[in-house]
Amino acid sequence: MSEKKRAVLSQEEYSRQSKYIEKCGDLVRVRYGDHWPPLALVHSYGCQQNVNDGEKIMGMLSQMGFGFTDDLNVADLILYNTCAVRENAEKKVFGFVGELSHYKARNGNLLIGLCGCMAQQEHISEKIKKSYPQVDFVFGTHALYRFPEIFYGALTQHKRIFDIENSDGVIAEGIPVRRLGKIQASLPIMYGCNNFCTYCVVPLVRGRERSRSSKDVLREAREIVASGYREIMLLGQNVNSYGKDLEDDLSFPELLRAINAIPGDFRIRFMTSHPKDCTKELIDTVAECEKICNHIHLPVQSGSDRILTEMNRHYTSEEYVSLIDYARDKIPDVMFSSDIIVGFPGEKYEDFCETVKLIKRVRYASLFTFIYSKRVGTKAAVMEDPVPASEKSKWFLELLEVQRKITNELYQNCIGRTYRVLVERTGDQDNHLLAGRTENNIIIDFEGDPSLVGQFVMVEIVSASNRSVRGRLVKK
Ligand code: 5AD
Ligand code: SF4
Repeated sequence: MSEKKRAVLSQEEYSRQSKYIEKCGDLVRVRYGDHWPPLALVHSYGCQQNVNDGEKIMGMLSQMGFGFTDDLNVADLILYNTCAVRENAEKKVFGFVGELSHYKARNGNLLIGLCGCMAQQEHISEKIKKSYPQVDFVFGTHALYRFPEIFYGALTQHKRIFDIENSDGVIAEGIPVRRLGKIQASLPIMYGCNNFCTYCVVPLVRGRERSRSSKDVLREAREIVASGYREIMLLGQNVNSYGKDLEDDLSFPELLRAINAIPGDFRIRFMTSHPKDCTKELIDTVAECEKICNHIHLPVQSGSDRILTEMNRHYTSEEYVSLIDYARDKIPDVMFSSDIIVGFPGEKYEDFCETVKLIKRVRYASLFTFIYSKRVGTKAAVMEDPVPASEKSKWFLELLEVQRKITNELYQNCIGRTYRVLVERTGDQDNHLLAGRTENNIIIDFEGDPSLVGQFVMVEIVSASNRSVRGRLVKK
């Protein structure tokens, strides 16, 4: 497929948006000149892809002259970058936006915006239009690169702006990124999704799968390493289908090998993998490349073949388990994690028991567990869903208990072993406590000097429960 068909953002459009950044900068200087720099609060919900979008918005705002804050009381611009994957996330955002009318009443110069996956949906945008007059501008995921133009409109037109035009999506290179972390950097390698799992809103709000060229990905990976980051997280809704829409370019395993070949002491992680596209070649690549972490996040969603078919997942539990077995055989010390949905429409207790069986068989180190949430526009939204919420909650708790035991056992087995960990931060409560992550994704708390943050150190695990793992620093 040609570059043109992939709808890469044109150089002209890129220049047009760059001009809007300059124009916004001029306007912002006049508007907020009395308390320079103006402060923006950008809050991203949901997945790492969305957080990365938020980092791009912050990059553009930074070029306009904005500084950043977490304090609603001092913000000149509040932008919620939303998630649509479950209803809870949406409800929360409506709650927060509702409260913002007080801030607007106090500060007439305050601008409020809503963007991201939730904003991309028409029924949400209509609701904001009707019931939340405090919101000045709304734009969806497809309009991200047009943010400078949208924001210029909000600064000049004195009317509310709604830009949620739907499309298959474009690839927009060159948008500045203001990364939130200093140790781990996320790197999107593809956008959108073609899978249409029947429960999932993502293909409706993020368009079709489109891969960035390997040249662009590798350039960004080199920049990340040169800036001193210790970990690169490659992002995509389904990284395993990277490159399928490109002509004469790399496949995902080839891309991984190319990133692995970049000189430097850093780690590579990736998410999310779809089991139907997870190949033995990919697993061999993980096994053979020393920088790729021996942790695989492979969402299974359900252990019941009947439900997997209803979900449109295109694999059976047996196929899934054989992939896991292959990976366990090839990759030393590998750990797995997964996403599980409980209470999909029509799921029976027997189906749920199949999920529990699979979890006990795979023995994940950790699970992201969700109760099914009905999403407008998806196939599952019109399926019969007779099981009451109270029953689903019981299953959910049962699942958590099963996983709690497994995590506990796995971590107990690690006591006495020494791991190379990347020190990510100081402990949540205690500044002398550091938190580091092993290659296979165990987070260990241990005592050490805060100056070690950002370095690789050796840590022996001394105690463990499913809640926390404690260790002690070991001389290299
Ligand atoms: N309800 C509950 N969980 C969902 N997920 C996606 N859509 C839904 C939904 N409608 C979960 C899946 C996915 C993760 C990111 O969110 O488990 O892997
Ligand atoms: Fe990410 Fe999906 Fe949520 Fe969008 S809807 S923020 S793609 S998890």
